Amino acid sequence: MSAKNQSKNSRRNFIGNSIKAAVVTTLAGSGLNAIASNHNAISSATTSMSPTLVGTTFTQLPLPYAYTALEPFIDALTMEIHYSKHAATYAKNVQDAAAAENVNTNSNLEDLFQKISGYSAKMRNNAGGHYNHELFWQCMKTAPAGSPTGALATAINNSFGSMDAFKTQFADAAKNRFGSGWAWLVVGADKKLAIGSTANQDNPLMDVSSFKGFPLLGLDVWEHAYYLKYQNKRADYITAWFNLVNWDFVAARFEKAMQ
Ligand SMILES: [Fe+2]
Repeated sequence: MSAKNQSKNSRRNFIGNSIKAAVVTTLAGSGLNAIASNHNAISSATTSMSPTLVGTTFTQLPLPYAYTALEPFIDALTMEIHYSKHAATYAKNVQDAAAAENVNTNSNLEDLFQKISGYSAKMRNNAGGHYNHELFWQCMKTAPAGSPTGALATAINNSFGSMDAFKTQFADAAKNRFGSGWAWLVVGADKKLAIGSTANQDNPLMDVSSFKGFPLLGLDVWEHAYYLKYQNKRADYITAWFNLVNWDFVAARFEKAMQ
């Protein structure tokens, strides 16, 4: 790369980082109500953020779309309550747990998960809850979802046989998770794709989890994620949710995991 292009890239990175800093600073100085009302304005900034960065901080980022953006598959009221109440509470509580347990909130949550067994249940539940939701928002976009392409599509076909077979296996993991929890597509330590689930707010990065890997895609199957629209029909929610998967985001995480 020429010195001129390197300079251009450095400038671009600096501008990108400045936007990230501005978003975080904006959040730090505003209440959740302001976040909710302003998320449309901020979303143009967040789209320039590296998708793999999301979820590694202790701060709740703006929702990258409006509450109505996932209609009709996920209704606006569910999104509003989910983001501004449930997920916001995890974000607040993980900050409280970090203060009580002397955890630096500038550290990386993904590193913390590798030794989460050494912390309190409050830390485990709320760090997991915060991270999982930050990831979940990014895993979705306005329909239609499209399909994975390139190396990710090849890996899915090689691992599960076909895209339809992947969907069936993922949906089964989500349906069969008893009680509250999450279904996951991960890259394991062997660099292979795997599907599994975790209970409560655990995730596959945690040392306490029997299902391990780097999460590419997560599906929230807590009732708060779907009950207003789907009531007891979790399977219908899962089927509908496939219309919302942000495969570009999943592909970016796949690329990071395979490096
Ligand atoms: Fe949730």
